[in-house]
Amino acid sequence: MAVPVPEKRIARFEKLGFGMFIHWGLYSQLGKGEWIQEIGKIPKEEYIKLKDTFTAKDFSGREIARIAKRAGMKYITLTTRHHEGFSLYDTRGLNDYDAPHSAAGRDLIADFVEGCRAEGILPMFYHTTLDWYNPDFNGNFKEYLRYLRRSVEILCTQYGEIGGMWFDGNWSKPNEDWEENELYALIRKNQPDAMIINNTGLDARGKIGNPYIDSVTFEQGRPEPMNREGMEKYVAAEMCQTINRHWGIGSLDFAYQSLPELIENLCACRKVGANYLLNVGPTAEGRILPLQKELLAGVGDWIKMAGDSVYNAKPCEIRSTGKDFVLFDGKRYWFYIHDLSVLSQANVVKGVQGVGPRSFTNVKTRFSSIKWVDNNESLDFTQNTDNGLMSVNFTGYPYGTNTVVRVAVADAL
Ligand code: GLC
Repeated sequence: MAVPVPEKRIARFEKLGFGMFIHWGLYSQLGKGEWIQEIGKIPKEEYIKLKDTFTAKDFSGREIARIAKRAGMKYITLTTRHHEGFSLYDTRGLNDYDAPHSAAGRDLIADFVEGCRAEGILPMFYHTTLDWYNPDFNGNFKEYLRYLRRSVEILCTQYGEIGGMWFDGNWSKPNEDWEENELYALIRKNQPDAMIINNTGLDARGKIGNPYIDSVTFEQGRPEPMNREGMEKYVAAEMCQTINRHWGIGSLDFAYQSLPELIENLCACRKVGANYLLNVGPTAEGRILPLQKELLAGVGDWIKMAGDSVYNAKPCEIRSTGKDFVLFDGKRYWFYIHDLSVLSQANVVKGVQGVGPRSFTNVKTRFSSIKWVDNNESLDFTQNTDNGLMSVNFTGYPYGTNTVVRVAVADAL
């Protein structure tokens, strides 16, 4: 069975590869995660007062876009409205629970979009569908859905071209009719090139939804490979993940991922052709924490080493055992090799010297050369195109380096 050809916007999305997720809202002032209103049982009358102290004084779309760019990220998905119901954009009269009516006194989404464009980053909008503020959500659901559509229409008509809409919350009322077709049709009409994504949540990872949906989601963990044979439409995949254990800032959450983990997660996504959407939780004032910024910059350094294959190359027919994998960009094959040791002397670095051969199967292409991309060193290899077996003698890291995952490129004969 055939795999369908991706539509233009979906092919573009896959090549973006790596994006920044941002959870930021009134809750950021409490520093206890984006669910604190609900989990901390804060009465609504009290919670909504947070709007009067939300100054957003350090928020700069441009600065955030620069941080994303430095990290090698090509898009940013920002929470324009999260479950709390407060909008970072001007709701233009729908209600006054929005940024222009808060202490910030300005449309933060306008700032965000402008900053992204100036840095060549594609802006995307997260938007909640679950709402703790609007009484219609539990009272008059049909009216709530009209409010939701009017909100989304504003986002799709007032901020120029956007990269996509990313919804989250349908899992809160799984048996309701969310009138999804109406919502998505209005996006398609106003933003024909925008991705339409709707998070299926922690328990339904990679689930295919409404036919309008352009990408499946994997929340946390690692994405699984997708089998697209016989599908009606080619659907992309994206894995979103927290950098520590919360989406919105947790000032006592020290459980950060390490730089090697972030690099391996990015690779695990690209191995199956999925995008990696890595979250940061800015401070109440809108600044990205130095620790998060530095971790992102580290991933950016790794991407500089690995090169464009991170964005352009896709999974291919070649198989390997274990974590290693091979991508193909239409011309060249890119080998992503894990767990190499550092070449040294026995009294300096403990353990094996070098690495030795690693084998691959289902190799149909005859190669002329394989080289590490970071130092151009040629690698010895043998292959047999009759049985598709190939063995490459990967060398260890030159002393003084260890990039966690090392990339080699192979050219066909
Ligand atoms: C969950 C949470 C939400 C978060 C989202 C990100 O659905 O409800 O707080 O925004 O995951 O994927």
